[in-house]
Amino acid sequence: MKTGSTADIGRREFLGRAAWAVTAAAMGGAAKAAPAPGEASLVGFVAPKLEKIRVGVIGVGGRGSGAVRRLCKVPGVEVTAVCDLIEDRAKKGQDMVKKAGFREPKAFAGPEGYKRLCESGLVDAVHINTNWTSHAEIALYSLKCAIHTFVEVPGVRSIDEAWAVVETAEKNRCHCMMLSNCCYDEDAMTLINAAHAGILGELMHGESCYLHETRDRQGQAFLSREKIFSSLAALIDHTGMCYCVHPLAPISLAMNINRGDRLDYLVSVGSKGFAWQEFARRKFGPDAPVSKISFEANDFNTTTISTVNGKTIELRQCNNCPMPYTRFYSIYGFNGTIATQSRGLQPSMRVAIEKTLGGGVKSFLEGKELDAFKEKYRSALWKKTGDTAKKVGGHGGMDYLMDLRWSHCIRNGLPLDMSVYDFATWSSIFELSERSVRNRSQAQDIPDFTRGAWKTTPPGGLL
Ligand SMILES: NC(=O)c1ccc[n+]([C@@H]2O[C@H](COP(=O)([O-])OP(=O)(O)OC[C@H]3O[C@@H](n4cnc5c(N)ncnc54)[C@H](O)[C@@H]3O)[C@@H](O)[C@H]2O)c1
Repeated sequence: MKTGSTADIGRREFLGRAAWAVTAAAMGGAAKAAPAPGEASLVGFVAPKLEKIRVGVIGVGGRGSGAVRRLCKVPGVEVTAVCDLIEDRAKKGQDMVKKAGFREPKAFAGPEGYKRLCESGLVDAVHINTNWTSHAEIALYSLKCAIHTFVEVPGVRSIDEAWAVVETAEKNRCHCMMLSNCCYDEDAMTLINAAHAGILGELMHGESCYLHETRDRQGQAFLSREKIFSSLAALIDHTGMCYCVHPLAPISLAMNINRGDRLDYLVSVGSKGFAWQEFARRKFGPDAPVSKISFEANDFNTTTISTVNGKTIELRQCNNCPMPYTRFYSIYGFNGTIATQSRGLQPSMRVAIEKTLGGGVKSFLEGKELDAFKEKYRSALWKKTGDTAKKVGGHGGMDYLMDLRWSHCIRNGLPLDMSVYDFATWSSIFELSERSVRNRSQAQDIPDFTRGAWKTTPPGGLL
């Protein structure tokens, strides 16, 4: 297939749902051939070591400003370029870097700014913090320029785009990683380590949710055309699970997806989307232009995935009703269960492990036993750098650890924790869950972006 020129992507964007329907018929979960010579698999890919990594931050809005601030604190990283559609924001990024004591980065602005940044020779890596609608276009451009590419969640939004990212990264031999900060959540990492250590025995099921009330934030966004026609625009015409990475990525790593198992098919069901519009009507009045925009996106979506090895994963996402911020991750196995709940409600972990076969479990571990469990499987990264991470901040430190980790891997010639195949797999849920929701939860095959390499990729990973 074609590697998705930016013109192609613009066309796909324009065709929207219709294009997805065609893609669905054309691609399904059809297996692709192994990479052609010169496009060898990037499983376990190690890029040439870089002592210092020159990073370009693209998109200096809410998330991008945080990224600039964090990256200025990551050893061996220098923000050498910043870019935003809006000149003042690029300038703000420039000022932040100078204030942090570094050389003034070059600022790029306007719709073609990211292209000039990629061609400037000033960056080894780009950190893309723009709105969803531009992730694919920018990521494909930077990959074509052979620049390591880090993309905010939810990555790209269609299967065509996901394949284009895989093929372009393979061809240009560079990393493309989802900036999945939740994988660096302290308790999530403990859960992943314990699952990898086999404490639960053979795994059966993973369960996860991302419940984050963003109506008020969206309320502010409603006031600004700029925002409503960016990330939110996706929710006007699309439905399904549009933001799956926070719930899926940590569970996916814990269950060794793309490392001995892979996602096979999904079914998705969602409640009708009425809450965004109702919120706007009540907040801004029925005649406000924003109150006339209806969103197709499900208010509450539940997506269930089956893996090739017969495990299941259940994901839930809701952003539209009043509730405390909650992410929880649970893993069930032959020997027991681990469940973590992060932020919003008090972070907590519940662990139940069967001690004698058939003995069952009457209660979760408590007190010293639980503490000992958590310490045993606590992430080495958190042990070593947790205090600094908490000081730098960013979702309690996990954002900093994510940036610290990928930069450490590149500086030390190590493979990254998450591959371009994870990127594509997680990105594909957007389109596949939408297809399922629109077809009475019909099962949708999930493509094997590794093209068979999942069978021989060793399990494990993270620290
Ligand atoms: N991982 C997390 O915890 C987390 C949290 C919040 C947001 N996000 C993600 O971060 C991304 C940005 O979200 P945000 O809330 O910061 O949005 P935002 O609207 O505040 O910022 C986006 C910025 O990107 C700029 N931009 C858009 N298109 C551009 C282009 N083509 N070239 C250059 N600049 C461009 C906009 O002008 C804006 O300044 C989204 O993908 C969102 O999903 C992730």
